[in-house]
Amino acid sequence: MIIAANLKTNLTREKTNKYISEVESFLREKNISEEVLVFPATSSLIAHSGAVTIGAQNAYPTIKGAFTGEIGYEQLEEFGIKTILIGHSERRHVIGETQEELVKKFDFYKELGFKIVYCVGEPLEVREAGFENMMEYISKQYEGIDTSYENLIIAYEPVWAIGTGLTPTSEDIVAIHGELKKKSLAPLLYGGSVKVTNAKEVLALEGIDGVLVGSAALYAEHFCTMCEYAQSLNK
Ligand code: 13P
Repeated sequence: MIIAANLKTNLTREKTNKYISEVESFLREKNISEEVLVFPATSSLIAHSGAVTIGAQNAYPTIKGAFTGEIGYEQLEEFGIKTILIGHSERRHVIGETQEELVKKFDFYKELGFKIVYCVGEPLEVREAGFENMMEYISKQYEGIDTSYENLIIAYEPVWAIGTGLTPTSEDIVAIHGELKKKSLAPLLYGGSVKVTNAKEVLALEGIDGVLVGSAALYAEHFCTMCEYAQSLNK
Protein backbone atom coordinates (compact mmCIF):
# COMPACT_ATOMS: atom_id res chain seq x y z
CA MET A 1 0.00 0.00 0.00
CA ILE A 2 0.99 3.64 -0.28
CA ILE A 3 1.08 5.82 2.80
CA ALA A 4 1.69 9.48 2.06
CA ALA A 5 2.16 12.50 4.32
CA ASN A 6 1.37 15.94 2.99
CA LEU A 7 3.04 18.28 5.47
CA LYS A 8 1.63 21.35 3.68
CA THR A 9 2.97 24.66 5.07
CA ASN A 10 4.12 23.10 8.32
CA LEU A 11 7.42 22.24 10.00
CA THR A 12 10.76 23.95 9.53
CA ARG A 13 13.67 22.33 7.72
CA GLU A 14 15.11 21.25 11.07
CA LYS A 15 11.82 19.73 12.22
CA THR A 16 11.27 18.07 8.85
CA ASN A 17 14.70 16.44 9.00
CA LYS A 18 13.91 15.13 12.48
CA TYR A 19 10.52 13.92 11.23
CA ILE A 20 12.00 12.05 8.29
CA SER A 21 14.65 10.37 10.39
CA GLU A 22 12.03 9.30 12.95
CA VAL A 23 9.87 7.77 10.23
CA GLU A 24 12.89 6.20 8.58
CA SER A 25 14.05 4.55 11.84
CA PHE A 26 10.56 3.25 12.53
CA LEU A 27 10.21 1.70 9.08
CA ARG A 28 13.59 0.04 9.44
CA GLU A 29 12.94 -1.18 12.98
CA LYS A 30 9.55 -2.66 12.08
CA ASN A 31 10.67 -3.93 8.72
CA ILE A 32 7.90 -2.08 6.93
CA SER A 33 7.99 -2.51 3.18
CA GLU A 34 4.97 -0.38 2.23
CA GLU A 35 5.56 2.59 -0.09
CA VAL A 36 5.98 5.67 2.12
CA LEU A 37 5.93 9.16 0.61
CA VAL A 38 6.51 12.43 2.45
CA PHE A 39 5.78 15.82 0.90
CA PRO A 40 7.52 18.54 2.95
CA ALA A 41 7.25 22.30 2.43
CA THR A 42 9.41 23.45 -0.48
CA SER A 43 12.02 25.07 1.81
CA SER A 44 12.44 21.74 3.63
CA LEU A 45 13.16 19.60 0.57
CA ILE A 46 16.26 17.48 1.09
CA ALA A 47 18.24 14.85 -0.72
CA HIS A 48 17.32 11.62 0.99
CA SER A 49 17.81 7.95 0.37
CA GLY A 50 16.05 5.29 2.36
CA ALA A 51 12.61 3.77 2.72
CA VAL A 52 10.90 7.17 2.67
CA THR A 53 10.50 8.87 -0.70
CA ILE A 54 10.51 12.65 -0.57
CA GLY A 55 8.23 14.47 -2.98
CA ALA A 56 7.46 18.09 -3.84
CA GLN A 57 4.06 19.56 -3.00
CA ASN A 58 4.30 21.73 -6.07
CA ALA A 59 6.59 22.97 -8.82
CA TYR A 60 6.19 25.05 -11.95
CA PRO A 61 6.29 23.29 -15.33
CA THR A 62 9.71 24.60 -16.25
CA ILE A 63 13.32 23.49 -16.06
CA LYS A 64 14.27 27.00 -14.85
CA GLY A 65 13.48 30.56 -15.82
CA ALA A 66 11.71 33.78 -14.87
CA PHE A 67 8.83 32.55 -12.71
CA THR A 68 9.09 34.57 -9.50
CA GLY A 69 8.18 32.65 -6.40
CA GLU A 70 8.16 29.29 -8.14
CA ILE A 71 10.61 26.41 -8.34
CA GLY A 72 11.22 24.22 -11.36
CA TYR A 73 12.88 20.97 -12.28
CA GLU A 74 16.39 22.31 -11.70
CA GLN A 75 15.61 23.03 -8.04
CA LEU A 76 14.07 19.57 -7.58
CA GLU A 77 16.88 17.83 -9.36
CA GLU A 78 19.37 19.30 -6.89
CA PHE A 79 17.78 17.10 -4.22
CA GLY A 80 17.06 14.15 -6.46
CA ILE A 81 13.29 14.72 -6.13
CA LYS A 82 11.35 12.67 -8.70
CA THR A 83 7.91 12.69 -7.06
CA ILE A 84 5.32 15.46 -7.17
CA LEU A 85 1.82 16.21 -5.93
CA ILE A 86 -0.42 17.79 -8.57
CA GLY A 87 -4.00 19.06 -8.30
CA HIS A 88 -4.30 19.15 -4.53
CA SER A 89 -7.53 20.78 -3.43
CA GLU A 90 -5.67 23.68 -1.81
CA ARG A 91 -3.91 24.39 -5.10
CA ARG A 92 -7.18 24.20 -7.00
CA HIS A 93 -9.44 26.03 -4.57
CA VAL A 94 -7.18 28.30 -2.49
CA ILE A 95 -4.42 29.13 -4.97
CA GLY A 96 -6.80 28.97 -7.94
CA GLU A 97 -4.96 26.62 -10.30
CA THR A 98 -7.12 25.68 -13.26
CA GLN A 99 -7.48 22.25 -14.85
CA GLU A 100 -5.61 23.62 -17.87
CA GLU A 101 -2.65 24.67 -15.70
CA LEU A 102 -2.66 21.34 -13.89
CA VAL A 103 -2.62 19.46 -17.18
CA LYS A 104 0.43 21.47 -18.28
CA LYS A 105 2.15 20.66 -15.01
CA PHE A 106 1.16 17.01 -15.30
CA ASP A 107 2.45 16.68 -18.86
CA PHE A 108 5.70 18.44 -18.04
CA TYR A 109 6.57 16.25 -15.05
CA LYS A 110 5.28 13.13 -16.79
CA GLU A 111 7.68 13.83 -19.62
CA LEU A 112 10.46 13.87 -17.02
CA GLY A 113 9.30 10.51 -15.66
CA PHE A 114 8.15 11.82 -12.27
CA LYS A 115 5.93 9.80 -9.99
CA ILE A 116 2.80 11.95 -9.91
CA VAL A 117 0.25 11.89 -7.13
CA TYR A 118 -2.70 13.52 -8.84
CA CYS A 119 -5.53 14.68 -6.56
CA VAL A 120 -9.22 14.91 -7.31
CA GLY A 121 -12.23 15.63 -5.14
CA GLU A 122 -15.44 17.59 -4.85
CA PRO A 123 -16.47 20.55 -2.66
CA LEU A 124 -19.44 20.19 -0.31
CA GLU A 125 -22.05 21.85 -2.55
CA VAL A 126 -21.20 19.39 -5.31
CA ARG A 127 -21.43 16.44 -2.94
CA GLU A 128 -24.81 17.70 -1.81
CA ALA A 129 -26.00 17.87 -5.42
CA GLY A 130 -26.05 14.06 -5.57
CA PHE A 131 -23.81 11.17 -6.66
CA GLU A 132 -24.20 11.70 -10.39
CA ASN A 133 -23.37 15.41 -10.24
CA MET A 134 -20.46 14.66 -8.01
CA MET A 135 -19.03 12.04 -10.38
CA GLU A 136 -19.49 14.43 -13.28
CA TYR A 137 -17.53 17.10 -11.38
CA ILE A 138 -14.73 14.67 -10.53
CA SER A 139 -14.64 13.40 -14.13
CA LYS A 140 -13.77 16.92 -15.27
CA GLN A 141 -10.69 16.74 -13.07
CA TYR A 142 -9.54 13.78 -15.17
CA GLU A 143 -9.79 15.81 -18.39
CA GLY A 144 -6.46 16.04 -20.18
CA ILE A 145 -4.77 13.70 -17.70
CA ASP A 146 -3.03 10.59 -19.02
CA THR A 147 -4.74 8.08 -16.74
CA SER A 148 -2.60 5.25 -18.07
CA TYR A 149 0.68 6.94 -17.13
CA GLU A 150 2.78 4.24 -15.49
CA ASN A 151 4.04 6.44 -12.64
CA LEU A 152 0.63 7.78 -11.73
CA ILE A 153 -1.02 7.55 -8.32
CA ILE A 154 -4.46 9.11 -7.89
CA ALA A 155 -5.69 10.50 -4.58
CA TYR A 156 -9.39 11.03 -3.98
CA GLU A 157 -9.76 13.80 -1.41
CA PRO A 158 -13.21 15.30 -0.90
CA VAL A 159 -12.57 19.02 -0.28
CA TRP A 160 -15.07 19.11 2.58
CA ALA A 161 -13.26 16.30 4.39
CA ILE A 162 -9.84 17.98 4.34
CA GLY A 163 -8.83 19.30 7.75
CA THR A 164 -12.40 19.21 9.02
CA GLY A 165 -12.56 15.94 10.92
CA LEU A 166 -15.42 14.91 8.60
CA THR A 167 -15.12 11.84 6.39
CA PRO A 168 -17.48 10.17 3.95
CA THR A 169 -18.99 6.92 5.19
CA SER A 170 -17.11 3.74 4.37
CA GLU A 171 -19.88 2.85 1.90
CA ASP A 172 -19.42 6.20 0.16
CA ILE A 173 -15.67 5.80 -0.08
CA VAL A 174 -16.05 2.31 -1.55
CA ALA A 175 -18.69 3.49 -4.04
CA ILE A 176 -16.66 6.49 -5.21
CA HIS A 177 -13.42 4.52 -5.41
CA GLY A 178 -15.28 1.87 -7.39
CA GLU A 179 -16.29 4.52 -9.94
CA LEU A 180 -12.82 6.07 -10.03
CA LYS A 181 -11.19 2.68 -10.54
CA LYS A 182 -13.08 2.48 -13.84
CA LYS A 183 -11.24 5.61 -14.99
CA SER A 184 -7.71 4.46 -14.25
CA LEU A 185 -5.84 1.40 -13.10
CA ALA A 186 -3.43 3.61 -11.15
CA PRO A 187 -3.25 3.04 -7.38
CA LEU A 188 -6.00 5.05 -5.69
CA LEU A 189 -5.50 6.71 -2.31
CA TYR A 190 -8.10 8.20 -0.02
CA GLY A 191 -7.38 11.50 1.74
CA GLY A 192 -9.36 13.77 4.05
CA SER A 193 -9.34 13.61 7.87
CA VAL A 194 -7.53 10.29 8.02
CA LYS A 195 -6.40 9.84 11.62
CA VAL A 196 -4.85 7.08 13.68
CA THR A 197 -8.37 6.34 14.90
CA ASN A 198 -9.87 5.66 11.46
CA ALA A 199 -6.84 4.79 9.31
CA LYS A 200 -7.05 1.04 9.77
CA GLU A 201 -10.70 0.97 8.79
CA VAL A 202 -10.12 3.19 5.76
CA LEU A 203 -7.08 1.23 4.60
CA ALA A 204 -9.02 -2.02 4.81
CA LEU A 205 -11.77 -0.82 2.46
CA GLU A 206 -12.17 -2.30 -0.99
CA GLY A 207 -10.61 -0.22 -3.74
CA ILE A 208 -8.27 1.64 -1.38
CA ASP A 209 -4.59 1.35 -2.19
CA GLY A 210 -3.41 3.74 0.49
CA VAL A 211 -3.97 7.07 2.18
CA LEU A 212 -2.81 10.67 1.78
CA VAL A 213 -2.69 12.25 5.22
CA GLY A 214 -2.42 15.91 6.22
CA SER A 215 -2.81 17.11 9.81
CA ALA A 216 -2.52 13.71 11.52
CA ALA A 217 0.68 13.01 9.62
CA LEU A 218 2.37 16.01 11.26
CA TYR A 219 3.01 13.75 14.23
CA ALA A 220 5.67 11.29 13.14
CA GLU A 221 4.37 8.79 15.66
CA HIS A 222 0.85 8.87 14.22
CA PHE A 223 2.11 8.63 10.67
CA CYS A 224 4.30 5.67 11.64
CA THR A 225 1.32 3.91 13.23
CA MET A 226 -0.58 4.29 9.95
CA CYS A 227 2.35 2.76 8.06
CA GLU A 228 2.28 -0.14 10.50
CA TYR A 229 -1.49 -0.59 9.99
CA ALA A 230 -0.96 -0.71 6.25
CA GLN A 231 1.69 -3.38 6.63
CA SER A 232 -0.48 -5.42 8.99
CA LEU A 233 -3.35 -5.49 6.49
CA ASN A 234 -1.15 -7.32 4.05
CA LYS A 235 -3.22 -6.09 1.09
P1 13P B 1 -6.16 16.28 6.43
O1 13P B 1 -5.61 14.91 6.68
O2 13P B 1 -5.63 17.32 7.36
O3 13P B 1 -7.65 16.28 6.33
O4 13P B 1 -5.61 16.73 4.98
C1 13P B 1 -5.71 15.83 3.93
C2 13P B 1 -4.93 16.36 2.80
O5 13P B 1 -5.20 17.41 2.28
C3 13P B 1 -3.79 15.56 2.34
O6 13P B 1 -3.33 16.00 1.13
